[in-house]
Amino acid sequence: MTGRLDAAVVLQLIGVTQQYGNGATSVSALSGVDLQVHEGELVAIMGASGSGKSTLLSVAGGLQQPTTGEVVIEGSFLSDQSPAQIAQLRRRSLGFVFQDFNLIPTLTAIENVTLPLELDGFRSRVARRAGRDALASVGLEDKLDAYPDDLSGGQQQRVAIARAVVGGRRLILADEPTGALDSVTGEMVLRMLRARVDAGAAGILVTHEARHAAVADRIVFLRDGRIVDESRRDGAEALLAGGSR
Ligand SMILES: Nc1ncnc2c1ncn2[C@@H]1O[C@H](COP(=O)(O)OP(=O)(O)O)[C@@H](O)[C@H]1O
Ligand SMILES: [Mg+2]
Repeated sequence: MTGRLDAAVVLQLIGVTQQYGNGATSVSALSGVDLQVHEGELVAIMGASGSGKSTLLSVAGGLQQPTTGEVVIEGSFLSDQSPAQIAQLRRRSLGFVFQDFNLIPTLTAIENVTLPLELDGFRSRVARRAGRDALASVGLEDKLDAYPDDLSGGQQQRVAIARAVVGGRRLILADEPTGALDSVTGEMVLRMLRARVDAGAAGILVTHEARHAAVADRIVFLRDGRIVDESRRDGAEALLAGGSR
């Protein structure tokens, strides 16, 4: 805990608001959200459907620009960056994991994982080695050339995690990554996310289940686009408790 307090801030949201639409039909999806996520820290976000969880991840990952406020990733204010610079930051520093895996069906597991590296101009031999390492880290070294359709849901989500971490990405944003998985597979996926964060990334995990949020160091509760509560816990202890169940 004390070590974590001096750890580098990987993500910072400062007074972020997100308004959809104008006038009478406008929706405030986020209102004045301040959040910091440090290296080695996994933050869970909980809240009812429509409370702004997905919007928060999307803004944090530079997929959409907030109406007001600032997003800072590893010291870079996204508002100072060109669209091309933001795209590059996303390819190099960010990994997204979604409920429905979002793999490209016509690419093999390793091609899905190495795609962001290839787009970023890595030589294919280098990209392939990184992809193989990332897939090995989620226990899929024997599925490199399998297509998504030939993999179980849990295996597909592990490929998505490998894609999110390949090349040492520093910020992992996961939106209900266990929503489509059975509980045993879901817990395995969470443990992999946790291990990656422990190895030097920062993560946000959106989840509906308190039991899953228990792998996080901190749980932030959103209601109507505002952070209404926050609870801290010892991540290592929670992980051990999860592992012995
Ligand atoms: N693209 C959009 N256009 C208009 N309203 C949206 C859009 N995306 C989300 N919303 C609204 O913003 C609010 C927050 O949505 P969302 O971030 O998806 O919440 P959650 O992920 O917690 O379910 C909801 O009221 C939702 O209807
Ligand atoms: Mg959502």
